[in-house]
Amino acid sequence: MSAEVTQASSLRRLGRSGLLTTPVGIGGSPLGGMEGLYGHDTSHEDGVATAVRALTGPFTLLDTSNAYGNGRSEQRIGEAIRNLGGVPDGYLVATKVDADPTSGAFDRDRVLRSFEESTERLGLDHIDLLHLHDPEGHISVDEALGRNGAIEGLIELRDAGLAGSIGIAGGAAAEITRYVETDHFDVLLTHNRWTLVDRTANELLDRARALNMGVINAAPFGGGVLARRPRPGDRYAYGLGTAEQVNAAERIATFLGTVGIPIAAAALQFSVRESRIDTTLIGASNPGRIDEAQRLLDVKIPDEVWVELDELTPARTHWIND
Ligand SMILES: NC(=O)c1ccc[n+]([C@@H]2O[C@H](COP(=O)([O-])OP(=O)(O)OC[C@H]3O[C@@H](n4cnc5c(N)ncnc54)[C@H](OP(=O)(O)O)[C@@H]3O)[C@@H](O)[C@H]2O)c1
Repeated sequence: MSAEVTQASSLRRLGRSGLLTTPVGIGGSPLGGMEGLYGHDTSHEDGVATAVRALTGPFTLLDTSNAYGNGRSEQRIGEAIRNLGGVPDGYLVATKVDADPTSGAFDRDRVLRSFEESTERLGLDHIDLLHLHDPEGHISVDEALGRNGAIEGLIELRDAGLAGSIGIAGGAAAEITRYVETDHFDVLLTHNRWTLVDRTANELLDRARALNMGVINAAPFGGGVLARRPRPGDRYAYGLGTAEQVNAAERIATFLGTVGIPIAAAALQFSVRESRIDTTLIGASNPGRIDEAQRLLDVKIPDEVWVELDELTPARTHWIND
C-alpha cells in the first residue's frame, strides 16, 4: 500500500535519525478527544476517520503518545491501521513513552511498560520514532540519565531494534535543552515555542541543529488560536502562554485579513519555512483538516508580509519563556 501523494522531492530527512518525512505531519492529540486542551471532545468515529485520512493523505508522519486521551488516541490510530490493513509504505508512526498515570513513575521499567501498552493499542511491534514525553514535572534530567532511568529504557528499546530512533519531546525549553545536550537522542520535538507569537525555542533549535538531530516543531497554531481569528476566552498554548499572545494573534489576523491571507496559512508556513525545522506537526480532529493543511501550504505569502508579521510579533517578555 502507498500513501496517496508521496512526493519524494518534498521529503525531508529528520537529521541523524535518517528517517524521511514530509514537511508537515499530523498530530494525534485532538483526535484522542482531549476536551480540556482543545475546548471540544472528539467522537470515536471522527477520531478513527481522522487517523485514516492522516495515514492515506498527503503527509507521511502521524504522531501520538501513550497518554493522549488516556490511550484513546493510540486506540483510534490502531483501529485505523487495522482498517487499512497496515501502515502505508514509507509512512512514519511516532509515539511517546509517558509516566505511569497512577504512580507517576518514569524510570526504565515504566518506559518498557509504556512501550508495550502503545504497541498493543497500535497493533505494531516496532515503532519508527519513540520519544521520551514531557519528562519535566515528573523526573529530573539526572534521574532520567541515572542507572535504571528512563533514558536507559529508551536506549534499550532502540538497541533491540524495537524503536527505530528515539527522541526527546517536551515544552520547558531550558530543561529540554539539557536533554538535547546529553546527545542520546536522535530527534527533538518542541511545541508552541516557534510560532507567529513566540520564539522561545530559538536557542534550542540551534543546539539541536548543531548536534545534527532531527527537529520537529509541534503546534504552529498554538493549540488553535493561530488557526482562525481568536475568540473571547481563547488561550495560547493550552493556557501556557500570555494574554498578550492572544492579543497579538488578533492583530495579526486583522492585518492578514487586509491582504487576503488566512492566519492559519501564515502560522503553518512560518514553521515550515524555518530551515532549522524538518517537519511541523499540526493537530486535527476531523479528516477535512488534513486536506485543508495542504491548501494552506499552497497560499502565496509575499516577502513584505513576512516583514510585517515580524513586526507584529510580541516582545520577548510576552513569550512563554520556559
Ligand atoms: N509535549 C509534546 O510532545 C507535544 C506537545 C504539543 C503537541 N504535540 C504534538 O503536536 C501536535 C500538534 O499540536 P496541537 O494539536 O496541540 O496544536 P496545533 O496544531 O497548534 O492546534 C491544533 C488545533 O488547531 C485547530 N485547527 C487546525 N486547523 C484549523 C483551522 N484551519 N481552523 C480552525 N482550527 C484549526 C484544530 O482544530 P480541530 O480540533 O477542530 O481539528 C486543533 O484543535 C499534537 O497533536 C501532538 O501530536 C506534542
